[in-house]
Amino acid sequence: MIDIDKIRHDFPMLTNHPELIYFDSAATSLKPQCVIDAVTSFYTHHTSNVHRGDYEIAALNDRLYDGVRKKVAALIGCQGDEVIYTHNISHSLNQVALGLAHTLKPGDVILTSMAEHASDLLPWFALSHAKGVRIEYVPTDAQANISIEDFEKAMHEGVRIVALAHVTNVLGSVNPIREITQIAHRYGALVVVDGAQAVPHMKVDVKDLDVDFYGFSAHKMCGPGGVGVLYGKKQLLNDLVPVFEGGDMNARFNKDGEVIYKNPPIRFEAGTPNIEGVIGMDAAIDYLMEIGMDEIEAYEKQLRAYFCSRMKELDNIELLNPDNASGPITFNAKGVFAQDAAGYLASRNIAVRSGNHCAKILHEITGTDQSIRASLYFYNTKEEVDRFVEAASQISLENAVGIFF
Ligand code: ALA
Repeated sequence: MIDIDKIRHDFPMLTNHPELIYFDSAATSLKPQCVIDAVTSFYTHHTSNVHRGDYEIAALNDRLYDGVRKKVAALIGCQGDEVIYTHNISHSLNQVALGLAHTLKPGDVILTSMAEHASDLLPWFALSHAKGVRIEYVPTDAQANISIEDFEKAMHEGVRIVALAHVTNVLGSVNPIREITQIAHRYGALVVVDGAQAVPHMKVDVKDLDVDFYGFSAHKMCGPGGVGVLYGKKQLLNDLVPVFEGGDMNARFNKDGEVIYKNPPIRFEAGTPNIEGVIGMDAAIDYLMEIGMDEIEAYEKQLRAYFCSRMKELDNIELLNPDNASGPITFNAKGVFAQDAAGYLASRNIAVRSGNHCAKILHEITGTDQSIRASLYFYNTKEEVDRFVEAASQISLENAVGIFF
């Protein structure tokens, strides 16, 4: 059971801003005190680099830093040495795309969808320019859902990589990744999943999904900024080419430029990593797992269903994803520019995102290139939803005047 009073007390942003309604957690989540404390403790009690220092504090940080791989592994159901630390999901997906470039030839197909975030399209577009691979799109319904039948029809022998979000960032459609992976593997294609909007909100088991690569960012799941994860199946990591070269990831090199790399996952972590970020992510995972991912998912689903039913009552509002069971509530106020409407909500102490949300070809599906996105997390309440709906009911051409500062 979610103890909402206790939870809200854990987040200083909520206690410091009692009037704020924070409905922008798909962009970044708020941070509980335990995460802030873990990061602060690194700075105040045990600062050092990792994998370089021969003293006690450095050894402590080596243990902490590498130990978090096991925590991530427990969260997503893999092994610790299949967990690569990155800077964010964009880094994770760029690493996969560029690291697989040597396996692709002109005419090979990357299969994706028009509902994807830029971070899951642009790395593949870069390959299409550099390697002559083709991008193809699986059709979706108007709320960005992919049916297994449509996916099966879109698959063919030329597809080498399937790149899809687990949960899309604007409409919150949940892709049937397990079934998609089964079909893709029948054709010998690899499946790469953007889990940025999934891992914070639901239990994810990458082994059960059988995906080949899966990435996410810590900052959307109560963790610090600048740290992300790339999971890859162990045998695939051995053939993935590292995008960044530098310190720590190499075992030896000589003046002729010959380099012996360390084994994965260190091979993919060139340079001093975000140590404090990884330590903060550890605290975030502890925090989420103590509440329970199933509890978080159930609470959010219920809150979303209530939110959606209340928004449907409003004549001035058009919902873009009323039938999706999870993810944000995304809408427009009739005839009002989305950013102006978000500005009005901001004047009522409500934080949302407006515009295209980095999903810049989603308009091919929805027919609109702008919307307002209200994204919830387990620290939001029914009372906040009620206050939001009352404010949304007031959005009009006359009072929506854009950002007011
Ligand atoms: N990817 C984040 C979002 O969807 C920033 O808002």
